[in-house]
Amino acid sequence: MKAVFKSIKFRLTLWYVGTLALIVISFSAALYVKLEKSHEKNIESSLEAIAQGLKNDISEAPHKMLQDILDKEKEREVPLNPVYIQVLKIGSKPAGEVAAKSNLLKGKTLPLFKTKRLAENVPLFKTISDKSIYPFPLKVIGLPVSIGTNKQYLIEAASPLRKEDDALDDLVEALFVLDPVLLIVALLGGYFLIQKTLTPVRNIVLSAKKITAEDLSHRIEAVDTKDEIGELVETFNDMISRLEKSFIQIKQFSSDVAHELKTPITAIRGMSEVILRKERPKKEYIDAFKNIVEETINMQVIIDNLLFLSRTEAQDVRYSFKTIALDEVLLEVFESMEILAKEKKVRLILSRLQQVSIKGDRNLIKRLFSNLIDNAVKYTHKGGKVEVFLERNDNFARFSVKDTGIGISKDELPYIFNRFYKADETRHRDGGGSGLGLSIVQRIAQLHKGRIDVESIPDKGSTFAVFLPIQD
Ligand SMILES: Nc1ncnc2c1ncn2[C@@H]1O[C@H](COP(=O)(O)OP(=O)(O)OP(=O)(O)O)[C@@H](O)[C@H]1O
Ligand SMILES: [Mg+2]
Repeated sequence: MKAVFKSIKFRLTLWYVGTLALIVISFSAALYVKLEKSHEKNIESSLEAIAQGLKNDISEAPHKMLQDILDKEKEREVPLNPVYIQVLKIGSKPAGEVAAKSNLLKGKTLPLFKTKRLAENVPLFKTISDKSIYPFPLKVIGLPVSIGTNKQYLIEAASPLRKEDDALDDLVEALFVLDPVLLIVALLGGYFLIQKTLTPVRNIVLSAKKITAEDLSHRIEAVDTKDEIGELVETFNDMISRLEKSFIQIKQFSSDVAHELKTPITAIRGMSEVILRKERPKKEYIDAFKNIVEETINMQVIIDNLLFLSRTEAQDVRYSFKTIALDEVLLEVFESMEILAKEKKVRLILSRLQQVSIKGDRNLIKRLFSNLIDNAVKYTHKGGKVEVFLERNDNFARFSVKDTGIGISKDELPYIFNRFYKADETRHRDGGGSGLGLSIVQRIAQLHKGRIDVESIPDKGSTFAVFLPIQD
């Protein structure tokens, strides 16, 4: 139940209806006040017209005044509101003596205005409440009149501000009924609208719950809208696809690692068990240990390479790149590779060595050079040729290795940079590589914002070219 109150649906509806209620109520209140004010103004101006009319009558013929009042009263039957009129003498003592008054007042008297505030011909208004005259408050006008030099009168006329069956009452009644109805309709409408908008979100939640690390094949059902929800679904599905891909990669990777380390471990175990079976001459022990050391070195190389790859992939390594002369580094690597080539009876030639410097890491570049030259020598038959080039262009340095080796088939070419990938395993069983060399080369090129090109024809040879940008 608590969750319901915390849901966006509930909160949105609450806000929406709350805001609407505030608007509707303030609008109604403003409307009421405005109408009441204008109603009051209307009464005031009617009263003033009556008082002014009476004033004229009195000025013209004071003796006919009472008759006038009665006559006016007849006229006043027409309008909706009753009008009470009285005329008081105020010039002479005692002040406030009634000179004439309408029948409607029936022995009652309208309250006297304070004489001090009265000025000739200036009407004064006030609101009084006298339930014996009328059940609702009355608006009263007071208008002083002078006749000759000493006769002073005060004309008073009063009319109720509200009536039993007032139009304003109708309005209030209407608003009291209409406002809640309006709010209920808005509440229902709003709730359904929000419900409709949020249903896809609910579906996303349900689908997302089905997705686990073990089973990333689920996708959220696509909604065919191009709105925010559609975009969310698309983004979410993309994310799961990427996750699925990396999970597959991780699984593949760990099984590759296990497989790769299993071979040397099995060899070590086998050799050790055989050697331990009985007493043996010293030479056999030495040979066995030599083999074991060799296998251990293989494993160490694999582990080092893997560590290098995962460390650079985690992207938390910061290499401090310095300006390095590629030609010097290449010369160094080349000299050490010459021994290897001689052993394999492959001609290793430095065909081009231009002076070129880049910003980079000396050890990484050394590793890149040696890995590529090592591959070229390793995958070239006895008597073959490996040529090494270092050239300078406007924006980049081009390092390339061209061999006349076994080549790589078109089918295998896309995979050679993958970890542990070894093309056509049977061809170079004793080569002893782990299939990590090119992954490392590619990683190093990426770290230097460079790229690699490969061209290869099976049984003719391959050319690996690395482009490294020169930064000034
Ligand atoms: N110059 C080349 N000529 C022919 N095939 C090559 C050449 N360079 C790489 N390859 C193929 O690409 C595969 C991957 O090369 P990579 O350098 O990554 O691994 P490796 O040489 O087998 O092992 P490692 O370099 O880890 O000792 C090789 O096994 C080989 O089949
Ligand atoms: Mg290699």
